[in-house]
Amino acid sequence: MSRDNETIITPWEVKGKLEYEKIIQQFGTSPLTEGLIKRFKKLAGGNLHVMLRRKLFFTHRDFDLVINHYEKGGEVVLYTGRGPSGPIHLGHYVPWIFTKYLQDVFKAKLYFQITDDEKFLYHREYRLKDVQKFTNDNILDIIAAGFDPHKTKIIIDIRDINVLYKIAVKVAKHVTFSTVKAVFGFQHSTNIGLIFFPAVQAAPCFLEEEITGENVLTLIPCAIDQDPYFRVARDIAAKLGYNKPSTLYSKFFPGLLAGGKMSSSEPESAIYMTDTSETIKRKIWNAFTGGQPTVEEQRLKGGNPDICPIFHYLYFLFEEDDHKIRQQEMDCRSGNLLCGEHKLYLIKKLVNFMEKHRKRREKARDLVDKFLL
Ligand code: TYM
Repeated sequence: MSRDNETIITPWEVKGKLEYEKIIQQFGTSPLTEGLIKRFKKLAGGNLHVMLRRKLFFTHRDFDLVINHYEKGGEVVLYTGRGPSGPIHLGHYVPWIFTKYLQDVFKAKLYFQITDDEKFLYHREYRLKDVQKFTNDNILDIIAAGFDPHKTKIIIDIRDINVLYKIAVKVAKHVTFSTVKAVFGFQHSTNIGLIFFPAVQAAPCFLEEEITGENVLTLIPCAIDQDPYFRVARDIAAKLGYNKPSTLYSKFFPGLLAGGKMSSSEPESAIYMTDTSETIKRKIWNAFTGGQPTVEEQRLKGGNPDICPIFHYLYFLFEEDDHKIRQQEMDCRSGNLLCGEHKLYLIKKLVNFMEKHRKRREKARDLVDKFLL
């Protein structure tokens, strides 16, 4: 948990100003340096993902050890996840696009955990059948991200707990209430399910070692909000005879409203993977920008891409061409580019991206069994 005046980052709540340099210091993670990115680029055969080039993924724990291990011929396993509390939005999907890329680079097995238990325990109003409904829905988006069906296993906690429980109890034995209270901000009024749950999210960090007994390293790509879980897992790994999991963290994909991340708690801030093209157009059209209130002022003073979600969506994901994005940034700042024009440009790319996703999502219905444990 990080609480710095008004900035709050926990797995369940992200609030306030997001200053990523500060966040690195508060969390005690390592910045993703140019040197490390260069080493990884070599390993990836020169194909560096736009999210690394432009530092959407910006910080890590022991990613260098993963690179060392792989260079020496060692095996790397990936682990990421989803808490099924509603439909998937683009912010959730971002780490999965990146995870799919990592799966290709490392030719890696992937464990994908669905924490239906966590969401049932956290949301007072949810019944088990609600989270199960979200699970069935979210699985389609997960599969549509394009993971290798031969190398990917989706673990649904409540359904598959037998696979995790042995590891989870071992973890739980070494983690005290005062630790999780400090890390997650638990209170005496917190239900005991949530207090145990960090052991369940830690379990897949060690699953491959537990099953194979081999010296594999597990790498976890996700946004920085999940770090508290993995800090706890790393702290106890050696005591249980496992390798520490490594992590690679992204910034938050911004929402469509002023400031803040894309978040389900503010539906108008989010583009859902099931939104129709019309809804996407409307949401982008109504989005906050870094532009001036009138065309005349925009031409005169220029806009501010640093605070503009339209620019950020293109920068981090939809405009891979370095020359084009630089040109757009200059044209925005100089007032050559109007927000309306930029929005139309993004809408075209986004609608195209979502149409492809929707088709893969439909096909995913037939693939579910291949991905389940
Ligand atoms: P959940 O469902 O809250 O989030 C799913 C994934 O999306 C990331 N995320 C974002 N990334 C970029 N921009 C955003 N605006 C944004 N919002 C959410 C999260 O970091 C996460 O990677 N407890 C977890 C489920 C889980 C998990 C894991 C996640 C279990 N094991 C291992 C990552 C890695 C959860 O509720 O995620």
